[in-house]
Amino acid sequence: MTTSIPSSKFLALLPNIDLMKCSRCSRWAVAEVGWKGRAYCSDHYREYFLGQVRKVMDKFRVGGKVCVAVSGGKDSAACLEALTHFRGIELEAFFLDLGIPRFSRGSLKKVSELCEELGVDLTVVSLKERWGKSIPEILKERKGKACSLCGTVKRYVMNAYSYEGRFDFLATGHTLSDVVSSTLNNLANVYVQAFRGVGPFLEAKEEFKLSRKIKPLYYLTDEECKLYSELLELPFYTGKCPYVSDAPTKRIKAWLNRLERDQPGVLRNFAKSFTLLESSMENRGEILKCKRCGYATTTRICKFCRLMN
Ligand code: AMP
Ligand code: FES
Ligand code: ZN
Ligand code: ZN
Repeated sequence: MTTSIPSSKFLALLPNIDLMKCSRCSRWAVAEVGWKGRAYCSDHYREYFLGQVRKVMDKFRVGGKVCVAVSGGKDSAACLEALTHFRGIELEAFFLDLGIPRFSRGSLKKVSELCEELGVDLTVVSLKERWGKSIPEILKERKGKACSLCGTVKRYVMNAYSYEGRFDFLATGHTLSDVVSSTLNNLANVYVQAFRGVGPFLEAKEEFKLSRKIKPLYYLTDEECKLYSELLELPFYTGKCPYVSDAPTKRIKAWLNRLERDQPGVLRNFAKSFTLLESSMENRGEILKCKRCGYATTTRICKFCRLMN
């Protein structure tokens, strides 16, 4: 039997590496999954990863026409590739060109390569062409945090695309690290709706034009997704968005990664607690219909319409 020593770029999850063997076979491990107390070679790591995705897919019976929102980054690349392994799904990829010089072009290039490699149809919508303004133009006009404004725009357009295209599901590449870090950040800002949408699934609400949403990577951390994309050599963009350098969720994420190493499974426990809190919260805030576009909002005119006006 041949065994090969894993190259250093795959050792991201083995911080205190004494070379380890895979818990399932005799090959060298490329990853240690702390909360399972296991180490895996690349084949068994892929099996573990797809098993975690399957938990979400089976529980929420994901099937039919699925739109995967791909940003060009490692997580949504892993998400799209993972979904190609499931039967009964008609996949389409969706990319929103935000018009951020260099960053949007670089991301689109990788997204196109990825979809080409995986044989998945890609639809590209340009914010500027379709709605009249790019993200840099919106940011010139408005005060406010770039990430939060951009997040509003992305959520709105992804939902509208999926709703209007009559997709059964909109899948995003949100990871366990994203869910926990953004909820903690909301709590740090005393944002009372912090627990809204913290689970892997959101039901459609036809009346408010809300598409059904799924987070297939819900049980996987950022680091696990990065390793998966690297092992499979998926094309993904590593350039940084010029607006996100000091995003507070990034600092929280780095802290969570350290915590997870010291206390494996802590991220899952946070997510479980948040989901329980969400279901026990009585006041979920009223949903209204935007007077201008008819999509869901909590104010008379939705934030997207106000930004694009
Ligand atoms: P982010 O808000 O950048 O953390 O991205 C969260 C998820 O939203 C990604 O994993 C993608 O599924 C989706 N997404 C982000 N940016 C885009 C984009 N420009 N086009 C399509 N989907 C995106
Ligand atoms: Fe939206 Fe950078 S991707 S601010
Ligand atoms: Zn193995
Ligand atoms: Zn609106």
